[in-house]
Amino acid sequence: MAVDAYQREIKYLRLSVTDRCNYRCTYCVPPEGVRWLAEEEILSDEEILRVLSVLGRLGVSRVRLTGGEPLMRPGLIELIRRIRALNVLEDLSLTTNGSLLAKYADQLKQAGVNRVNISLDTVEPQRFRELTCGGNVQDVLDGIQVAAQAGLSPVKLNVVLTDAVREEDLAFFREMVRTSPVIVRFIEYMPSHQCRVRAGMTVTSVTESLNRLGSGDLAPPVQNPHGCGPARYLQSTDDQGMYGFIAPISSGYCDRCNRIRLTADGRLRPCLLSEVEIDLRAALRGAATDEEIAALFRQALQSKPSAHHLADHGSAFRKRGMSQIGG
Ligand code: 5AD
Ligand code: SF4
Repeated sequence: MAVDAYQREIKYLRLSVTDRCNYRCTYCVPPEGVRWLAEEEILSDEEILRVLSVLGRLGVSRVRLTGGEPLMRPGLIELIRRIRALNVLEDLSLTTNGSLLAKYADQLKQAGVNRVNISLDTVEPQRFRELTCGGNVQDVLDGIQVAAQAGLSPVKLNVVLTDAVREEDLAFFREMVRTSPVIVRFIEYMPSHQCRVRAGMTVTSVTESLNRLGSGDLAPPVQNPHGCGPARYLQSTDDQGMYGFIAPISSGYCDRCNRIRLTADGRLRPCLLSEVEIDLRAALRGAATDEEIAALFRQALQSKPSAHHLADHGSAFRKRGMSQIGG
């Protein structure tokens, strides 16, 4: 079992497989874009498989593939098949912007992905295009439908609360949650020094709006959905789906943190909101033994802070932006 210095059990790895993205969301990437990693800087399939086989033995049993946009990595489906063939994971999921999902959902499911999280902040085509720098919201809506049909369930939607999210978007999400088993999660915007984005609704004002929109009495669900980390969930008895709230700033959740991150260029990142990184790639490329890799993982666990200091110091994304970490 992998336990950190504060007795938190860490069995969940967020694995970024590429820093590339076909969108440039305003809250994630600065307007001029970011310098992408060269191909040789990114961990190869063999290196990823090696890491997962070592971490799997240490108690990491759940992996989420992230990006940038993970579907931008060439050969991702084959990599997923090989990850599954290691036989060390209970759960394999993917976070995606949804733009390519209609094309890949069936293949993802067949290769062994259990479920997907899809980013969708606004359903108004023009605001969506501005927010993502050119994206077409219909691609994402199609992706959501095909993912659900493919059995990638439960489908979770991630909504970052910037000022692009309006009451009409909440009305859309409200209707979706009423009629389908989707989980819509509202995420407090985390400020990045590179991105000048206006924060929008708060978690409290979203809940109030949902109530106004007739969502009835929202209460914690009988059973929390699988993969429950920092999110808090609420459900109305009449609804098929539910809502989640992720509030890194206004509500402390670090005591429930269950995860560690690996960037596309092979740095273990013990905390999203701290700049501490441990270079696993150098070890992988320097003929390290499995025991040496395990030791670096334990070192990363030990350097996981008890809590973040976002409210005191502002942004923790000076060296890397969100798309270079994987969210
Ligand atoms: N604040 C909050 N969430 C963010 N994401 C990306 N940038 C930010 C930010 N600044 C989230 C998006 C996406 C996931 C990969 O990361 O919701 O779903
Ligand atoms: Fe790409 Fe996701 Fe960042 Fe948007 S939030 S630019 S989709 S990585």
